[in-house]
Amino acid sequence: MAGGGIVAQGGSANYEGRVTFFVVITCLVAATGGLIFGYDIGISGGVTSMDEFLQKFFPTVYEKEKNLKSENQYCKFDSHMLQLFTSSLYLAALVASFFASATTRLFGRKVSMVSGGCVFLAGAVLNGAAQNVAMLIIGRLLLGVGIGYANQSVPVYLSEMAPPKIRGALNIGFQMAITIGILAANMVNYGTAQMKGGNGWRISLALAAVPAVIMTVGAIFLPDTPNSLIERGQTEKAKEMLQKIRGVDDVSAEFQDLVDASEASKQVEHPWKNILQRRYRPQLVIVVLIPFFQQLTGINVIMFYAPVLFKTLGFGDNASLMSAVISGGVNVIATSVSVFTVDKFGRRKLFLQGGSQMLVCQIAVGAIIASVFGVAGEGSFSKGMGNAALILICLYVAAFAWSWGPLGWLVPSEIFPLEIRSAGQSINVSVNMLFTFFIGQAFLTMLCHMKFGLFFFFGGFVVIMTLFIFFFLPETKNVPIEEISKVFKAHWFWGKYIPDDAIIGNHHVQPKGA
Ligand code: BGC
Repeated sequence: MAGGGIVAQGGSANYEGRVTFFVVITCLVAATGGLIFGYDIGISGGVTSMDEFLQKFFPTVYEKEKNLKSENQYCKFDSHMLQLFTSSLYLAALVASFFASATTRLFGRKVSMVSGGCVFLAGAVLNGAAQNVAMLIIGRLLLGVGIGYANQSVPVYLSEMAPPKIRGALNIGFQMAITIGILAANMVNYGTAQMKGGNGWRISLALAAVPAVIMTVGAIFLPDTPNSLIERGQTEKAKEMLQKIRGVDDVSAEFQDLVDASEASKQVEHPWKNILQRRYRPQLVIVVLIPFFQQLTGINVIMFYAPVLFKTLGFGDNASLMSAVISGGVNVIATSVSVFTVDKFGRRKLFLQGGSQMLVCQIAVGAIIASVFGVAGEGSFSKGMGNAALILICLYVAAFAWSWGPLGWLVPSEIFPLEIRSAGQSINVSVNMLFTFFIGQAFLTMLCHMKFGLFFFFGGFVVIMTLFIFFFLPETKNVPIEEISKVFKAHWFWGKYIPDDAIIGNHHVQPKGA
């Protein structure tokens, strides 16, 4: 098959070791780093649909929303300041991820996680106490710095700790935590919106401290990865750690690969300059396109603005927040599907299936909205139509949740050789954050101008990204992380970019049918 003609043949079987309780627990704790990101994604949409919050900070949006009877449904929440509240965080995360790269490389993955958790905590406190828009936005910026650090270090940590044959499943713990964070936020919003006295939004924002404490305290107790210990010259400690996480004494084959990778990595003084070399071109292209495409699925339209979107569609206040809880629940459950399938069926099959399902749902939702609201944006949903839209949105979320959601973080974290892994992951985080920012900033305006066409717009991107995966993404399931270059070497298109000396060892991976 084009682009997919690679399989790992018994790759991991060549390393000694079993899946230890220790490695699973360690990865679960590290994965909680996804909670802060998820909580944040989920909380802003609900808060921005609460009247008291709008009245206090965005009175013009509030007035507009109240006058909606006479107005175009598509445009009632269109406000740049409101969008800036949601999206400012992602700009901060973008910048922070570059600092995180150096921290992660020089001081280890763990230090990045702890630092991220602390800054995030400060942001949560500021937001909960906010008296004006400035406090809100500064708080959001601090949260963003925390997220930049966590998202840069956690996926790399997970991919390095995990034994190759369940690397996908353990890495997806991160996405699982993101979705749990989103769902928790949706439920908190549902609860606080019912509170009398109008301070519910404060509780919603302040509760971000809870996942931050969980992650920070957890990270303090985490060991660092053998790869990172070797990279920082602590070879003996690295070997002991590898023995501990693999549960066997003889880890020599894997240890040797890590040492070789680290030797190669020492030759590289400037990861940022090196990443531009021709030999890393395949990874560079993939690490830029994957996060770009992930955001262009349009998922965050649902995640950030589900309550606002459902209100736009004419659902009542509670029904809107409840619908967000429902789609949030589907997100968590569907993510678990990928945990159990990613190392069995592989990354490519999930990407291709998920993309196709998303496309069908987007076309159907666009068509329903077009038939009810037309171009003028006037009309209202019948109960049946509303339910149909909700079901389609849930099917779309489910497809994302077992494909582009987890794989958008897994694949970039496992395709780079050690010497540029941290830098590569920063590019992943920053491109992801940049386009998360664009979507967060532009969605309400796009909805106002593109109307139902917005769903077709994202659908068009889903077609392009699915074709990209089909032709250009090699399968990486079960391949040891320091041997991924072989997979690219054997790929029909990328092979010519990989010089022979980029391959560590000469076993494990063979082209399918070769
Ligand atoms: C994405 C987020 C998205 C979330 C939804 C993550 O993988 O990076 O932007 O909101 O999935 O579950």
